[in-house]
Formats: sequence, C-alpha cells, structure tokens
Amino acid sequence: MNHFLAIDDLSPDKVRHLLERAFSFKFNQDYPSYTHHIVANLFYENSTRTRISFELAAKHLSMGVVNVDVARSSENKGELIDDSIRTLAAMGIHWFVIRHVQDGLPAYLAKDLGTDNHIINAGDGQHAHPSQAMLDLMTITEKKPDLESLKIAIVGDIAHSRVANSLQCLFKMMGVRELCLVAPSIWQPKIVHYGRVTNSLEDGLQNADVVIGLRVQKERLAGHEALDLAHYREHYALTEHNLSIAKPDLMILHPGPINRGIEIDNAVADGPHSCILTQVQNGVYMRMAILDSLASGIW
Ligand code: CP
Repeated sequence: MNHFLAIDDLSPDKVRHLLERAFSFKFNQDYPSYTHHIVANLFYENSTRTRISFELAAKHLSMGVVNVDVARSSENKGELIDDSIRTLAAMGIHWFVIRHVQDGLPAYLAKDLGTDNHIINAGDGQHAHPSQAMLDLMTITEKKPDLESLKIAIVGDIAHSRVANSLQCLFKMMGVRELCLVAPSIWQPKIVHYGRVTNSLEDGLQNADVVIGLRVQKERLAGHEALDLAHYREHYALTEHNLSIAKPDLMILHPGPINRGIEIDNAVADGPHSCILTQVQNGVYMRMAILDSLASGIW
C-alpha cells in the first residue's frame, strides 16, 4: 500500500499492525530513522491537531517537514493542485499530507502519482478522516481492548462528519458489538456504514462504554440544516446530567476542536472520564505508525 486514504483500504490485520506499532512508539520510545524522506503538509482547511501531530510524527522519525503556506502558494495564481504536487515531487518531496474541503481529492491525486509518492488523507470534506479514526481506536483499546464487548455512541452532527464516517467503517471492520449514531433528525446520516441511528440520547447512552461527541460544525450547515442551539444543548449536549445513565467507567472522546458550552460542558471535557487530551497525545504515535508503515513498505 502506497497511500493512506480511507479506512476501507485497510484490513483488520493492518489495523492491528498500526495499533501495535503506535503503542510500541508510545511505551518504548524507540523510533526508526527515515532521514532522506521529506513530508509536505498541505492544509487547505484550518487545523491544529492533525497538522501539528503529522509534523511531530515526521520529525520523531527523522523526516524533513515542509509546511506549505497554501494561502500564499502559486495556486492563487491559477496553478492546479496536481501541478503543485508534481512541482514539489520534482524537488524531491514524495510525502503529501493533504486536508481539503473537496470530498475524494486525496484519492484523485493519488491515482496519477508514481509509486514512490505517498498521499495521506488528513481529512477530505465530509468524506473521511482515517487517521483520526485510528487514533480514536487506539485511545479506546488502551483502556478497553475487547471491542466485541463494547457499546459505543457517537453523538452530534453525524450527517456532516468525516470523523463519524471513518469511525463507522473502522468499528464495523474491527467488530465493535454495538454502535449508536445519536443525532436530531436533521443531522442524521443519509448513508449508514455501520450502527443504528437514533434521535434519543438516552437510547444511545444507556450502558454505553464509550461516547464520542462531535463538534457542531456551523461552517458546514446550509440554512435549512441549522438547528436551535438551545434545543440542541438541552437534548444532545454531553453534560454530567445526561451522561449519568452511561457506565461508571465511561470513556468520553471528542475529535476536537471542542465548542465548550455547546456540545460539551466544561465539567465533562475536563472531568475524570474525559480522554480528549489522551486522543491528542495518541495522535502523534498513531501518525508515526502510519508514516512508518508506508516508509518501511510493510504493507
Ligand atoms: N480533529 C481534528 O481534525 O482537529 P484539527 O481540525 O485541529 O486538525
């Protein structure tokens, strides 16, 4: 495998390999060195976690990193992204970590590239965010490794969430026992990859082992999809009160960035069940595992 584009390109064995490698980096701190590789970060949408953790992951593996300032690149003079990539490749850059608003763009770019180039999907539109799903799985299995016994609830704007898409594919592949997709009807997905859709937070959270909150993505909402935020808070926000029906050892995840006081309360985001900063920490190790697996040709 030359690229990292979507969860469905993986297999259960590849997922297990990435988990093993990421945990090994986390607990052994023994890193291979890929000194002649240079990674270009091309982020056409805002990012804090994903961009910086790919940069740190590459640096831990002794790779060079170029953060392309896309707002000041020659694409503003009409250059196609295809030509930008070919230009960087001609300079000896063969790794491209891409976040873009257009669904499917990383896969489209990967089609025409030679075999020594690697495209990594860092989030494309509303389609997929596979490295986020992998770091979420790492965070869950670190505490609760028996996926076939788990009930997981994903809560929020499922319809517009690339994270929810990738998580559904990954949980299906890895045999998660029960997945509830909790959303008000206007934000329920048209296509369900795995799980049961419900508009009842109580239904989703009853005896849940893990709850994954999603950001209210105001920038992706067309007029008719907007929701009364006070109504949303009352019925779907992750509050101490709402979460009291889940299991006592509930894990609370959120891909970030979080909207405090909208989809999640301070007491939950900063409380004893929150794994949000562990997700961020694990993100570096999981992205190291992804780069390492592609660089070593193990796939
Ligand atoms: N979870 C996530 O993708 O965060 P960023 O937008 O900060 O990268």
